[in-house]
This record gives sequence, C-alpha cells and structure tokens, in this order.
Amino acid sequence: MPEVKTLTVSGRPAAYLETGRGRPVVLVHGAGGRGALWNPQLTGLSDIARVIAPDLPGHGGTGGRGSVRVAEYAEWLIRFLDAAGLDRVVLGGHSMGGAIAQTVAVAHGDRLQGLILVGTGARLRVLPRIVELLREALPDGLRLISSLAYSPRTEPGAVAAVERALRETPPLVTLGDYLACDRFDVMAQLTHVRAPTLVIVGRDDRLTPAKYAAFLASTIAGAQLVEVAAAGHYPQLEQPAALNAAVRAFLESVPTHD
Ligand code: COA
Repeated sequence: MPEVKTLTVSGRPAAYLETGRGRPVVLVHGAGGRGALWNPQLTGLSDIARVIAPDLPGHGGTGGRGSVRVAEYAEWLIRFLDAAGLDRVVLGGHSMGGAIAQTVAVAHGDRLQGLILVGTGARLRVLPRIVELLREALPDGLRLISSLAYSPRTEPGAVAAVERALRETPPLVTLGDYLACDRFDVMAQLTHVRAPTLVIVGRDDRLTPAKYAAFLASTIAGAQLVEVAAAGHYPQLEQPAALNAAVRAFLESVPTHD
C-alpha cells in the first residue's frame, strides 16, 4: 500500500504518496487531480523503483493555492525534489503534469535521469467551452471534460478516482490548471531535452490526441512512443497493466548512473 507522507516545501506542507525502494520515479498528476491517480503505478512498479506521487499545491493534501502557470508548478516541483533530498530522478507527468515535466526537462535537465510523458503535449490549448463552463457552471464543465476523457471501451469503475478527484479539488484550482494548460507551449524548446524519454498516449485520447504524442516523440531526440489500445486520456488508470509494462521496459533501458 502507498504510504501517505508529508514534507515542508517553502514553509508549507506538501503531501505525497510513496512506495518501493531504489531508483526514484516521481509522477506528477494532471489538472484538477492528485497523486493518488497514480495508484496503479505506485503499487505496480514498487518492486523496481521508489515511486513518489506528490499532490501539487492546492490539490489533495498539499496546502497553498494552485497556479495559473505551468512554470510555477515546475519551480515548486524542483523545491519538492530538494526538500525530499532527491538529486536526479526519472520524472513522469500526465497531461498538465506532463507539461510540468517537460518544463523541468527544458529548464532543469540536470535533475532528470529519464522523462515519461503520458497523455500530454508540447502545447495544450483548451476548448474555450471547457474554460467557460469551469468559470460559470463547474459541474457542467466537469461533465464535458469527462465526456471527452475516456475510451468508449473503459469501465466506469476504472476511472471513478478521476471523477472523485475532479469533484473534490477546489473549483478555482481546477480552473487555474486549465488556464495554465491553455497558456502552455514549449513546442519550440523541446529540442533542448536531453533525458531519455518515453511518450505514452491512449489511442482514443480526445483531450491530448495521438498527434500531440507523435510530435513529442519526433522532436525529443531518441524518444520512444507507445500507443495504448482501449485507452483515452487516462491510460494509467484505463489500462494500467499496459502502461506499467511500457514504463517497466523503459526503466530497465535507462542507465542509473549519472
Ligand atoms: N502537438 C502537436 N501539434 C499541435 C499541438 C501539440 N501539442 N497543439 C496544437 N498543435 C497543432 C494543431 O493540431 C494545429 O495544427 P493544424 O493547423 O495542422 O490543424 C495547430 O497546432 C494549432 O492548434 P491549436 O493551438 O490547438 O489551436 P486550434 O485553434 O487549431 O484549436 C482547440 C484549439 C482548443 C480546438 C484544440 O487545441 C483542441 O481541440 N484541443 C483539445 C481539447 C482540449 O481542450 N484539451 C485539453 C488539454 S489540457
């Protein structure tokens, strides 16, 4: 079972989940989410890695406010790594978390042994209707996001945790996350990424379509691309076995030395 832990980042509590021992793999959740959305990876990869999944500021058990800038979350993540005594890690991120991971890879590449990008893109424009509804009628906004988020082949139970997290995250934090995504664009900077990289996308992803993953994989030198069948925007929950197998093979291929 993942252990719930807390440390202090810039004077405020930061909550995270941790399992396993060995090479640190830090997994960052997406917009309106929380670390527990990586539960299948926290349990499924703990035999080969020390898996750590923080709650970003304003999310889950971490205090403070959220942000409307991916770069601010990325700076917080660097302070989280410092506070946890983690020098170099394999960093994974989903959706907005993938935007945060790309930003770290561009600006703090020396902290990374590897990069795992799940259901994300180098640019994350958001449908104006999503932002409008998140501002004015949050439940309708969340319903619209859900209607686009999963593969038609996904069992509702497999993604119940996403629905719960989205409902429990403060509405202004979720709105801020989507604004942060909408402003995010590192398409012109990705050639600076040096870390070995794995890109994963659900074939039925409509929020960050396969085209975005193809761009990441063709622009980041040496990146591998894995498409997961019968998965939408949350392959880590919709098809955890396939996702874990891809991550496992990637971790085995990435050198542990500096
Ligand atoms: N990787 C590769 N190509 C990308 C990209 C990415 N991350 N982001 C955009 N592009 C491409 C688009 O495919 C498009 O190419 P085209 O002109 O050949 O069709 C071009 O860049 C411009 O796209 P975009 O910046 O998205 O603007 P747009 O006005 O065409 O579309 C939306 C705006 C909101 C309709 C569109 O971004 C979309 O459908 N987004 C997905 C839904 C969503 O809200 N996702 C939430 C993300 S967190």
